Amino acid sequence: METPPPPAVDVSGLRKSYGALEVLQGVDLTVAAGSIFALLGSNGAGKTTVVRILSTLLKPDGGTAAVAGFDVVAQARQVRESISLTGQFAAVDQILTGRENLVMVARLRRVAGPGRVADDLLRRFGLTEAGGRRVATYSGGMRRRLDIAMSLIGDPKVIFLDEPTTGLDPQARIEVWQEIQSLADSGTTVLLTTQYLEEAEKLADRIAILHQGRIIVSGTLAELRGLLPAAKAELVERQPTLEEIFLAVVGSKEQQ
Ligand SMILES: Nc1ncnc2c1ncn2[C@@H]1O[C@H](COP(=O)(O)OP(=O)(O)O)[C@@H](O)[C@H]1O
Ligand SMILES: [Mg+2]
Repeated sequence: METPPPPAVDVSGLRKSYGALEVLQGVDLTVAAGSIFALLGSNGAGKTTVVRILSTLLKPDGGTAAVAGFDVVAQARQVRESISLTGQFAAVDQILTGRENLVMVARLRRVAGPGRVADDLLRRFGLTEAGGRRVATYSGGMRRRLDIAMSLIGDPKVIFLDEPTTGLDPQARIEVWQEIQSLADSGTTVLLTTQYLEEAEKLADRIAILHQGRIIVSGTLAELRGLLPAAKAELVERQPTLEEIFLAVVGSKEQQ
């Protein structure tokens, strides 16, 4: 019998402080291989801190974190070989064309056939026509799509997208959502962070809400909906939105 694959991300009791500020106070989360997981939280909740620890850019103060079965502290090199990270601010070079950016990254990652890899990704992300133009001429959505395309070079098992649609207009946001969905359809594990409830609701198989240093709620959207008892009486005809769940849970925590 085959052993089941390890979770793509497995975090237990994760702690991190900046000076006296205890940002992560024991975070637990598990992301199944091949799924989309949304880490939802307000600005300053600690989402980027989690992602930086998982991508080995920052050392935790306590707890454990494994990515693709490797410990982020003890096996940092193997973790780095298994992941890619796309930040809130695009890493693309504006002076180069879209294609040149992709070729450059493919060379840096020593991928065979950089030109072919670039052309495949341009096609996949609907950027073939724009590929020969300088990135400076791209719209926000095109830039973000190029950024995600760059993160795919080398076929990482796990992709971290830190606020992939922050600052994008609604049309561009939908384009990026489509690309994230197709990533997951091709078997890549995606952990994305977001402040947008709608984004988590739309994309994620599982959602975790990070608030005041801990995961206060996690589960599928259906499970999260089940957490709102008021919905039973008041919203018989209507499913509560994630926004209502978020406010109910965060609100009740703040009253403690
Ligand atoms: N390098 C740092 N030094 C001091 N404080 C930091 C540092 N990085 C983040 N913080 C603080 O930690 C908290 C969490 O930050 P962050 O992880 O970026 O949250 P999020 O990504 O959810 O907005 C914030 O209050 C932020 O100001
Ligand atoms: Mg952040």
